[in-house]
Amino acid sequence: MSDLEAFISAMPKAELHLHIEGTLEPEMMMALGHRNRITLPYATIEEVEAAYRFSCLQDFLDLYYQGMSVLQTEQDFFDLTWAYLERVHAQNVTHVEIFFDPQGHTERSVAFETVLDGITGALDRAEREFGITRKLIMCFLRHLSEESGFEALKSAVAHKDRIFGVGLDSSEKGHPPSKFERLFAEAVREGFVPVAHAGEEGPPDYVHEALDLLHIDRIDHGNRALEDDGLVKRLAASQMALTVCPLSNLRLCVVDDMSHHPLRAMLQAGLRATVNSDDPAYFGGYMTENYLAVAKGLDLSRDEIVTLGRNAYLGSFLDEPEKRRSLEEFDAFCAH
Ligand code: HPA
Ligand code: ZN
Repeated sequence: MSDLEAFISAMPKAELHLHIEGTLEPEMMMALGHRNRITLPYATIEEVEAAYRFSCLQDFLDLYYQGMSVLQTEQDFFDLTWAYLERVHAQNVTHVEIFFDPQGHTERSVAFETVLDGITGALDRAEREFGITRKLIMCFLRHLSEESGFEALKSAVAHKDRIFGVGLDSSEKGHPPSKFERLFAEAVREGFVPVAHAGEEGPPDYVHEALDLLHIDRIDHGNRALEDDGLVKRLAASQMALTVCPLSNLRLCVVDDMSHHPLRAMLQAGLRATVNSDDPAYFGGYMTENYLAVAKGLDLSRDEIVTLGRNAYLGSFLDEPEKRRSLEEFDAFCAH
């Protein structure tokens, strides 16, 4: 291992873009399929892995929704979340901001509370045992209707103590942020912090809409913002964080090669870009693997890695004292 690889591996990390349903490893998918008597179209783990060749976001989403059908009980959601937290604890991740997709479960008649209790049970245990801090963000599925989103919001309002924010994910093209303007306004009135996937496959206009109509506090992905100079200046001036996902971008053909990834261009433009894993079980790596892949592809310097690592704590939703403490620990590590 090179010095830089060892540094990346040991560096304290914050993950800001992670779909918990996207941490369902093929082994667990098969095991939960058996446990819950759900038939999957795969006989072996190799067949699952062979199916993970995506040409666009929708290709992936089709398998992602199929995969989550094995998640039925509170124990399933606990096991899923705990497995993720154990893995990232071993990668020196100290803070996580996790998405979940309740509509992907309630439409299969799995209760909102079953999902929430399983996920938060594991998060509570990781906070106690590993000291991992966390925020939970409920995503609305943008291919579904506004009405369905309002149903999910109604469920979330009863659990405000455990759900910090709301996000927007799933099929981006043809489902602009404007479709959910009223839903986000209501969510913000209820006290949820808003974020949205924008500019992954969708045009820069979708990023504008997410900012101006949904009033988001952070952009998930945001790659295509780089196509609009005015937007880049705006994001640099506001220092709004972008949660960039290198291996996801490669596997969903948002970039054709890691050496063409826009992350360095983002840093050079003064954007608060961060590194995240998105759906690690589907895209071939968790936090450390994402840092390593983009560091190698772009030949990033140690200073650039430090900037990315620092940006994650700066762009997190930790409260100010927690943020200060995390940054002090991060800077102390980097000073060695
Ligand atoms: N984009 C949109 N929706 C998603 C993603 C993503 O990368 N992962 C899980 N849902
Ligand atoms: Zn995502």
